[in-house]
Amino acid sequence: MGIDSRKVRMDFPVLGKSISGKPIVYFDNACQSLRPKQVVDKIDQYYLEFPACGGRSGHSLGRRVDEEVKKSRKTLAKFFNARENEIIFTKNTTESINLIAYGMRWKAGDSVLISDKEHNSNLIPWQQLKEKGVRLLRFRFGDIDDFESKLDRSVRLVSFVHTSNLDGTIQPAEKMAKIAHDNKSPVLLDAAQSAPHKQLDMRKLGVDFMACSGHKMLGPSGTGLLYAKAGSMDDMRPFMTGGETVTDSTYDSATFEKIPNRYEAGLQHYAGIIGFGAAVEYLGKVGMKNVSEHEMKLNSLITEEIGSEVGLLGPMDAKERSGIFSFNVRGMNYHEVAVLLDKTANVMIRSGMHCVHSWFHANNLDGSARASLYFYNTEEECGIFVDSIRRIAKLR
Ligand code: ALA
Repeated sequence: MGIDSRKVRMDFPVLGKSISGKPIVYFDNACQSLRPKQVVDKIDQYYLEFPACGGRSGHSLGRRVDEEVKKSRKTLAKFFNARENEIIFTKNTTESINLIAYGMRWKAGDSVLISDKEHNSNLIPWQQLKEKGVRLLRFRFGDIDDFESKLDRSVRLVSFVHTSNLDGTIQPAEKMAKIAHDNKSPVLLDAAQSAPHKQLDMRKLGVDFMACSGHKMLGPSGTGLLYAKAGSMDDMRPFMTGGETVTDSTYDSATFEKIPNRYEAGLQHYAGIIGFGAAVEYLGKVGMKNVSEHEMKLNSLITEEIGSEVGLLGPMDAKERSGIFSFNVRGMNYHEVAVLLDKTANVMIRSGMHCVHSWFHANNLDGSARASLYFYNTEEECGIFVDSIRRIAKLR
């Protein structure tokens, strides 16, 4: 069916704004997406109609919060083909990963296997386990033979990125999960950059854990979730404890709640949780297949135009890079490229090492400029981007 860009863009008021008489071209979606009115309205509704506490207040406003949080959890569970009690709300992908890193009962000699192209959020939490005697093993991103060869009996967990935020390349999560399970190693999938762009089915992927962020998929800032397959977190240590994590307590002990409540300590970001639900409802209506196809089409257009004129990171075939176009203009610093795009054409991208410092250092690169697309971007915007790159490249 495709995406009717003009119609969709009307839901994103910021896209109608201009700066210095020029339209905004928002190509920083891998960092945070924009939010449609429907999500903002839902957040407003919380603050205006039932701004109370969930989980503890028996009055009617409190009950409404409970209903809405439950509805949101159900929507998200359905979106990812999971069960409601497999969805734990967090504030971002980073917190979801930390929850597992802290929660697992590690022993000296255990190891964690990650790829060599991980965001800091899927690297640093594992580095912290060194003091517990846990080793960090590494395989080459996308190299399945190398992945398989690194799996040994010490690997207590495999944790890898699905779509790289650096260059958009994708790892075959389902196949890798099967291989890891043959080694009896559970799998955590960092889906921060895949969940917003394609349909993820937890049953089909077969991973044990999946982390993603709401703010990269139309949800409010500071929202995220951890999918944890039923039973996989029963013996873990809660990362945070306190209110709403227990059913009872004495001065000396506590009886812990069932999952997910056990892992959602304290008063929650209700507006955010409810807004996250509205965000995936919106995505569901757009259709994830349409989202992927649209981004791929735009990325192909950009790549055909300037893919060989810039230093492109990742393969030339845009189909292998999701909605990400990561590049360097020869002879120019990536920050300079980003600043010039912003100043001269309101084209907003990100530049630097994109929190994947380890990969850049290992590959003797300083960083890159990165455009990241979403379903509300248009061919016209790609044209502005391409023309602007060509123009600033001549400034050298
Ligand atoms: N991880 C996010 C990005 O790549 C913040 O932009």
